[in-house]
Amino acid sequence: MDTRELEMNAMKLVSPGRGILAADESTGTMGKRLLGVGLEPNEEARRSYRANLFSTPNCESAISGVILYDETIRQNMDDGTPISEFLTSVGIIPGIKVDTGAKELANCPGEKITEGLDELRERCSEYYQMGARFAKWRAVITIGDGIPSKSCISTNAHALARYAAICQEQGLVPIIEPEVLMDGSHDAQRCYEVTSEILKETFSACKEQGVHIPGALLKPNMIISGKSCSVQIPRQEVAELTLRCLMENVPSELPGVVFLSGGQSDEDATAHLNIMNTIDSNPPWELSYSYGRALQASALKSWAEGTPEDSQQSFAHRAKMNSLARYGKWSEDAELEQKL
Ligand code: 13P
Repeated sequence: MDTRELEMNAMKLVSPGRGILAADESTGTMGKRLLGVGLEPNEEARRSYRANLFSTPNCESAISGVILYDETIRQNMDDGTPISEFLTSVGIIPGIKVDTGAKELANCPGEKITEGLDELRERCSEYYQMGARFAKWRAVITIGDGIPSKSCISTNAHALARYAAICQEQGLVPIIEPEVLMDGSHDAQRCYEVTSEILKETFSACKEQGVHIPGALLKPNMIISGKSCSVQIPRQEVAELTLRCLMENVPSELPGVVFLSGGQSDEDATAHLNIMNTIDSNPPWELSYSYGRALQASALKSWAEGTPEDSQQSFAHRAKMNSLARYGKWSEDAELEQKL
């Protein structure tokens, strides 16, 4: 394991004012997103939308890395340049989703286990040769009546650690993503407890399996009430609870925490991160973003309704807002100001 290269790339991914664009929607998910804005989902539709997004002028000032899907890392920009080569040339690190999706967990109705460990070593080696320098694996934890079960927590934590160890062996910085879903009527306290449990178990499995924490990143959910909970806590409280939960469960040697947006509105995702970066608690890690929907929703809408430039402007604006949030300098007023 080349720990120096891993640490250097992990630090670059959370360098000041920058964060990650998650553009690794599987073919099925991307199909749903395209249909949602009235576009026909096919390979060229996925490629052209993403190629346009990646060529947004100056986006590297706010975007340190892009997570790609297997199909995308094999595609080219409009001028024929391989996408990963193009990203590297503008100073953006290409990353790759390496899990093969969350499947039904045996004996645990309503719960999922993320798969993809088979042949993972060989796939990571190929992705490294294609220019990828980091990877993502997403575990999905659902809160409900009597769930998550111990089995769901321990099997997902174990798989996350196995994935992280194999990635590091092959030179890829693993993004460890144990996502506690917002779906449900649970309150924020329940989200706090479940998030603590999966984080504890995941870092314990990582320790057992020798994962080099300074060469990894964590992609967690924030501490939020379930979508259908009648009590939605204010932004300040989301930020405080999230930070407290991380302080209790995340090792200090980790270079960065890159949040997922998980279905929050664009502005909530930005505002929560912004508040965390203004609270004077001195966390040992960088607090950044690895947003999918919260960076792309408006860009996809303008891609369908306007010009390619409109789509780039929408993306540039959200990227800029989140970049400001990295410094705790975002405000409602900034939302109205000139785009990038
Ligand atoms: P969202 O920000 O849309 O949750 O996507 C991030 C991601 O990569 C989920 O795995």
